[in-house]
Amino acid sequence: MLLLLFFFGINAVLAVVAQAPCIELNDGNKIPVLALGTGRGTAKETETLEDVRNAVLWAIEAGYRHIDTAAVYDDEEQVGQGIADAIAKGIVTREQIFVTTKLWNDKHARDQVVPALRESLKRLGLDYVDLYLIHFPVSTKSDGSPDNIDYLDTWKGMEEARQLGLTRSIGVSNFNLSQIDRLVANCQVRPAVNEFEVNPTLTQEPLVSHCHSLGIAVMSYSPFGFLVSRKRDDAPPPKYDDPTLGAMAAKYGKTPGQIVLRYLIERGLIPIPKSTNKKRLAENINIFDFQLTEDEVATISRFNKNTRVISIDAWKDYPNYPF
Ligand SMILES: NC(=O)c1ccc[n+]([C@@H]2O[C@H](COP(=O)([O-])OP(=O)(O)OC[C@H]3O[C@@H](n4cnc5c(N)ncnc54)[C@H](OP(=O)(O)O)[C@@H]3O)[C@@H](O)[C@H]2O)c1
Ligand SMILES: *[C@@H]1O[C@H](CO)[C@@H](O)[C@H](O)[C@H]1NC(C)=O
Repeated sequence: MLLLLFFFGINAVLAVVAQAPCIELNDGNKIPVLALGTGRGTAKETETLEDVRNAVLWAIEAGYRHIDTAAVYDDEEQVGQGIADAIAKGIVTREQIFVTTKLWNDKHARDQVVPALRESLKRLGLDYVDLYLIHFPVSTKSDGSPDNIDYLDTWKGMEEARQLGLTRSIGVSNFNLSQIDRLVANCQVRPAVNEFEVNPTLTQEPLVSHCHSLGIAVMSYSPFGFLVSRKRDDAPPPKYDDPTLGAMAAKYGKTPGQIVLRYLIERGLIPIPKSTNKKRLAENINIFDFQLTEDEVATISRFNKNTRVISIDAWKDYPNYPF
């Protein structure tokens, strides 16, 4: 009887807080399959950096164990404060949180990588991150003009950062298929992750399956695609009120946003939804109690238009432009 009570007691606690399962990376480290995005590209004008700190704390309270930031987001300090708040409240230990940050384009010289990561760690208030990514294959000078540093050299700096224990895993972001192949053919440590845009209008099947076949996990950014406002008149479907997504949402008692995040989970991806809203960020992790069918996944994939939310057209003439 006591045992039974104990059992139901534990279950009741588990039911309150949603948790994302972990998968194993190719270096043996474990990564939670959902991350909180803290990039500020979609932030409303009224949003402040203090909102990032609160969002990180609320996210950890809601069960998130993975936070995605970057040097260029200018919010590593607030991300670190939110994590420190959660640790101070006794919700988690540092070891239970997975922190991803990224090297910016103007620090691609091999000997700039470790110092850049040390700067990120100082801002985060941490002595290691779990995952460090090359943000883009493109390199620039500090004024933003094109540089021509080979990302294979940058990667050597990433391997050194890992060797020093400043990051547990290393990976890349926005690398295309040929760049992944060239890196894999010329590295000591294979990238654990490639982070790039995947959503219903940019399904990226070839790049996803290629990365997966090489043992490289895929983190999918801008997971909501054009469901959320991107301030564009020519935004392709699906929008938030799309009837196909609406029918699936009604069937499972979920929202269209949750359907799209679950779609990415079914495809073996690690979505990175951004929210600074307490209710929506809790909603976004509440996707681990239902499954979509193969047909439903295929139906959502048919929205594909190869249309990007994130464009880096300004760099299209720079060496190593990936898109
Ligand atoms: N590696 C890269 O180059 C790269 C590029 C872009 C993005 N990223 C990463 O990916 C993350 C996410 O991408 P993103 O910021 O472009 O877009 P996103 O997560 O697809 O969308 C964020 C927008 O959706 C809203 N939202 C969040 N949850 C919602 C819900 N349940 N229902 C309705 N609206 C919702 C947010 O508003 P509220 O905050 O008001 O909820 C915000 O306006 C970034 O934060 C960043 O960490 C990486
Ligand atoms: C990847 O980017 C490189 C550098 O711009 C380009 O030469 C190559 O064709 C691209 N590959 C794919 C598969 O898009």
